[in-house]
Formats: sequence, C-alpha cells, structure tokens
Amino acid sequence: MNVLLPLLIAQTGALTGTVRYEGQLERPEPFAVDVDRKSCGRAAPIRPEDLVVESGALANAAVILLVPPEAISPQAPARLDQENCTFAPHLQAVTHGSELIIGNSDPIIHNVHARVGGETVFNLGMPLPRITVKRMLDRIGVHEISCDSGHWWMRAYVLVIPHRFHATTGRDGTFTIPEVPAGKHGIAVWHERLGLIEQEVEVKPGETAQVSVSFAETKTGRDTEQRLTELLRGPKGSATEPASRLDDQRAQVQREGRGLFQGHCAHCHGARGDGRGESAPFLSSPPRDFTRGEFKFRTTSSGRAPTAQDVLRTISVGIPGADMPAFKRRLTRDQRELLAQYVLAFSVKPFATQSAEAISIPAEPPGSPGSLVRGRELYEKLECAQCHGPDGDGNGAKEKSGRAADLTKGYYRGGRGIRVVFRTLSTGLSGSPMPAFLQISDQERWDLARYVVSLSRRGVGQWLLDPDVGRRSTP
Ligand code: HEC
Ligand code: HEC
Repeated sequence: MNVLLPLLIAQTGALTGTVRYEGQLERPEPFAVDVDRKSCGRAAPIRPEDLVVESGALANAAVILLVPPEAISPQAPARLDQENCTFAPHLQAVTHGSELIIGNSDPIIHNVHARVGGETVFNLGMPLPRITVKRMLDRIGVHEISCDSGHWWMRAYVLVIPHRFHATTGRDGTFTIPEVPAGKHGIAVWHERLGLIEQEVEVKPGETAQVSVSFAETKTGRDTEQRLTELLRGPKGSATEPASRLDDQRAQVQREGRGLFQGHCAHCHGARGDGRGESAPFLSSPPRDFTRGEFKFRTTSSGRAPTAQDVLRTISVGIPGADMPAFKRRLTRDQRELLAQYVLAFSVKPFATQSAEAISIPAEPPGSPGSLVRGRELYEKLECAQCHGPDGDGNGAKEKSGRAADLTKGYYRGGRGIRVVFRTLSTGLSGSPMPAFLQISDQERWDLARYVVSLSRRGVGQWLLDPDVGRRSTP
C-alpha cells in the first residue's frame, strides 16, 4: 500500500449538504409543444427543469468550492444528450479540460449552441440521431446551451470549473463533494433562476462537513452568471504573466495600426471597430462589428478565435458578394498583417491568450459519380434546406436567413473553391446561424461540398458530374 495514502486521507475531508428553496416563485408545469410534434413531446410532455423543487428541496443547483485552479489530469468525459427535445442533464458541473460528448437521441435536427456571457463558444449542428460530436471544454465559466432549430424551450447549463471540487444537487436537494482539502473555504451555490449564494465552510481532516443553503427570493439572470464566472476565473491577470512583452507588442500594433485603420477601414467598420462607420447604412450587409469577436471566415473550429492568417486572408481578398473590398493591391503585406492584429485587438474576447489552432483540411479525395448522389442525400438528411431551401437558392427555406444563404451564386463569401465549402462545413460561420457539421465523416463532407458546388447557377459545378473530376483542379 502507498505509504502516502493515510497522510493524504488525513489532509482531506468531505463536504455534504442540502440546498433548499421555500419561496413563492411559480413552479413551471409540463407542457405540450406544437413544433416538430412527430418527435418533441411525443413520448411525454416537455418538463421544464428551470425550477425543480420537491418539499423545499432544490434540484439543479451547483455547489462549487472556491479554491485556486489545479493542474488537472484529463477527466472522464461529460455527456450531453438530447431526448424528447430536452437536454439531459439539464445542469452539470465539469472539470476544465474535460471532453463533452454530445449526442442526439431524437430523430430530428437539433443544434447545440453554447454561450458564455452571451458570447458563442461553439455552435454545432446535430441533425443525425445516434451520432456523437466531441468538444473539449477549455473555457472556464457558465455555458448556457440552447437549440436554435425552433426549439425555444431547450436549455441546459454546463459549468466548467478549474478544479474537481464541485457537485450538483439531485431531486432531494442534496450534494456530496468527496476528498476536499481540509481548511476554511468559500463555496458558491448557483441556480439559473435563483441566483448565487456565497458562504463559508470549514472542512476538518478526516471528517465530513455539513452545510445547508437556502435560497430566498433573489436576483436572477446574467449578473449572477457573470459573477460566478469571475469567481471561477480568479483574480484578473493571474494567468497572463509575461505581460510586459505582450504589452509592448500591443502598443506597437496600436500606434502603427491606427492610422491605417482610420484611412482604409473606419468609414465602414467605425473608428472603434464597432461596425458603425458613416458608410455602414449604405452597404448591402452590415460591416463586421469587431468588438464582438465573432469571425465567419476561419480555419479554426466553431466558436474559436480566427488565426491572424485567417483575418489577413479576408483583408487581402475581400468577401465576394459583400462590400468588403480586397486590399491586396492597395496595401503591402506588412500593412495587412498589422491590420489583422489591430482588428483582433478590438475584440472583447482575450484572443491574445487563446490558442487558435487551424483545423487540418485533408486532401480532396478523387471524385466519383456516387459522390454527388451521396451529397444530395446528405443535404436532405441534414436538413440544409431548412435554411438554404430545397434548391439551395434560399427560396422555400423555413428560416429567413437572407441573401447570404444563397448557395447557387457560384462564388462563396469565404473564398474560392470546394476546399472553402469543406472548411465552412467544418467550422461553421460564427455570428451567423450557419453551424459546423462535424458529426459526419470527412468523406461525407467532401460529398456534401461537391453537391453544394454543383448547385451553382453559373454551372461552375457541372464539371463535378464528370467522374474524372479528381484529376482536375478545383474552380
Ligand atoms: C466599403 C466598406 C468596407 C471597408 C472599406 C472595409 N470593410 Fe471589412 N467588411 C465590410 C463588410 C460589409 C463586412 C461583412 C461582410 C459579411 O460577412 O456580411 C466586412 C468584414 C470584414 C472582416 C470579417 C471577416 C470574418 O471572418 O468575419 C474583416 C476582418 C474585415 N472586414 C477587415 C477590414 C479591414 C482591416 C479593412 C480596412 C483595411 C476593411 N475591412 C475595410 C465592409 C468594409
Ligand atoms: C440554421 C440555418 C442553417 C443551416 C441548418 C445550414 N445553413 Fe448554411 N448557412 C446559413 C447562413 C445564414 C449562411 C450565410 C452566413 C453569412 O455569410 O452570413 C450559411 C452559409 C453557408 C455556406 C457558405 C456560403 C458562402 O457564401 O460562403 C455554405 C457552403 C453552407 N451554408 C452550406 C450548408 C450546408 C451544406 C448545410 C447542411 C449540411 C447548411 N449550410 C445548413 C444557415 C444555415
């Protein structure tokens, strides 16, 4: 036996307790829905879980010890399922760095849109039952999960915690956190509607500390979510030590980038990068608001920061079909690189500390006659028509996605060629409804991309019908 074990046990205790709510807020009733009735609410009515109280015991509350982050080894993956058009579980606390495996047990389209403080962390299309998508949870904070496919009632919360000392309450309102370091600690108890309670506990070595927490009528909403996220992230700046060198670089980008940006970009994107330049009202689509930190044309996965290279590409070649001009001939490469950094610095998201790694796009496999047929099947199966219309021209779409969703124009806003379509299907377009489709294989995404290109009105795609297609260059 490990000689250290008794010692370790001696330095830890456990924490258990109950969370209660005796207030007057109305408990939501189960209800039937009139959307996708073939599946949603078919087995049973939808049971809202935003306030589940039984004889005063409160379920779906998270209890978190307020201790510094740990360097943690990978944890068992967390799971999120969609069943009867409800997310399960409704609330979970998971350790930073765990993987989230997302499944869909419903025979209809869903998507999983995760936001922290209103900002998208990822948005993944989930149309196929019995297929899972994995996502690394590397952002600390309260993730609010919703489904944008018309299922407005679907909500779940995933709390990503920088250590393993957390639990959630079950139907009986109780929770247990084993092996807690001994000592005096703060705890945070959070509930999506009742808000946040901060309390002190003392855990004695080898003993189990008992706490009881009671929610009164409390403030709700975003501010408690934000406060909890702040508590979890700890004091500002603690994770970004080599600040001075970074600051120097930033100062240089600011000094030299400002003039270029004012001269070439501000009349559309606004001097503050918020998309409110004086020309903005006259453009066919609004110039990007850089402060939101959402970029459509990326080589990085859904919800991630773009690489500086991605932004450089957009600045260089522009956006076909939108009023964003190409600056390749007007500015030197150095100037464009500087502008890419300058644009990224507007973002409210800490892009400088995020690692934005490009996904790899495999080589395009040789085409075959079956490819287009499979692509067409996927287009139907994945319900692309819901937003792009049965013919891809946006007509007959259930959702009003605007001109941008017309796939028959023969050019793509993200760039030229089939690889761009493949990339769009892999990354989604952040800040627009277009989700990422990672649940299908690379081969299937190529089939789908080929089919999309074949929809082109200009006939650019017709060559794809040719079985020799793999030997030719892409359009
Ligand atoms: C004539 C107006 C106009 C000018 C000038 C302009 N842009 Fe844009 N820009 C746009 C519009 C419109 C969009 C959004 C297009 C869309 O996706 O609908 C955009 C989008 C972008 C994007 C977003 C790319 C993404 O992945 O989402 C970047 C980056 C960008 N512009 C950078 C610049 C920079 C840097 C300059 C100056 C060198 C500049 N733009 C000048 C109109 C303009
Ligand atoms: C929830 C609605 C929605 C669904 C579902 C959806 N899309 Fe989109 N898609 C959009 C919107 C909106 C845009 C335009 C985004 C923008 O540029 O503002 C778009 C853009 C695209 C683009 C990029 C076009 C360009 O000009 O670069 C491609 C390619 C595309 N979608 C293919 C698909 C395919 C294939 C499917 C099914 C697997 C699909 N989409 C499902 C909403 C959707």
